[in-house]
Amino acid sequence: MSKKIVLQTNNLNKNFSDFCSVNNLSISVKEKEIYGFLGPNGAGKSTTMKMILGLLKPSKGNIQLFNKDLKKNKQEVLKDIGALIEEPSYYSNLIGLENLQIMQRLLQLPEKNITEALRIVRLTAHQNKLAKNYSLGMKQRLGIALAIIKFPKLLILDEPTNGLDPAGIQEIRELIKSFPKEYGMTVFISSHLLSEVEQMATTVGIINQGKLLFQGDLSELEEKPKIEFHTNQNTIAIDLLDQNGFRLYDKQSNKIQLINNEKEQIANAVNLLVENKVRIYQVKPVRKSLEKIFLEMTSGKEGEL
Ligand SMILES: Nc1ncnc2c1ncn2[C@@H]1O[C@H](COP(=O)(O)OP(=O)(O)O)[C@@H](O)[C@H]1O
Ligand SMILES: [Mg+2]
Repeated sequence: MSKKIVLQTNNLNKNFSDFCSVNNLSISVKEKEIYGFLGPNGAGKSTTMKMILGLLKPSKGNIQLFNKDLKKNKQEVLKDIGALIEEPSYYSNLIGLENLQIMQRLLQLPEKNITEALRIVRLTAHQNKLAKNYSLGMKQRLGIALAIIKFPKLLILDEPTNGLDPAGIQEIRELIKSFPKEYGMTVFISSHLLSEVEQMATTVGIINQGKLLFQGDLSELEEKPKIEFHTNQNTIAIDLLDQNGFRLYDKQSNKIQLINNEKEQIANAVNLLVENKVRIYQVKPVRKSLEKIFLEMTSGKEGEL
């Protein structure tokens, strides 16, 4: 059975005077997935998220949340969404607990949600400290606690690990990974780091200059491995393979890379080279890293530097 769609944008556009920040963006986020919204700085991630939260008005296009049009059902759909956009906002002169109490009263939630949210983000032991004295990671976790206090169906997090050290990043990542399983939440999270999205997201949308370049499973972006040979006489080996009908990737490079990686092809190539007295030192699969593919997709085209 196909999963329900929680969030859908249709040809969404946002222009700031004559500058197009989000360009015909159509994304689709399914129930209980972690959707990684990936793109370099200035790609249009925050602008998109602000439109989804009704904080910015789209110039064109529409947004469906839980199968309802955002514009027509704003109050109703926003009830089921929790969000942390750009910097977490909290009262720095109040303690962590008081920050959550304010939100709990404002949203008329049960008091137990406060304890739960603090426990989930592991701030219980620090609940009586002033928020301004929190470490960066704790501030970020407070922001997440404020976003999840209503246990929303959809959680929107805009670069929640920005500025954190590796341990802090890992902690937040593990936390976010637990949300769909433990609380049935769908998570829409943005990042400019492929490595982060790779380890967390079940679906990825890549955005650059306001346009969606890819949406799907990251493995779909990966190319099929080629088989690279290291020998003592690459030039001779390339000629031999070429003359015997083996397809080589970039013959001019002096690298021997077989395009066809079927095992019989590899065995045949090895045989041919050995019969012709070429000495083979290594036969190994090679492929472009995802990092390289992502950089090539987005490099030199950033909206801002
Ligand atoms: N209020 C605004 N007025 C003019 N330009 C804006 C405004 N908000 C964002 N932009 C521009 O839109 C582009 C996308 O910004 P943003 O959505 O913040 O990117 P990201 O979150 O992916 O880093 C940037 O070039 C940014 O300068
Ligand atoms: Mg942003």
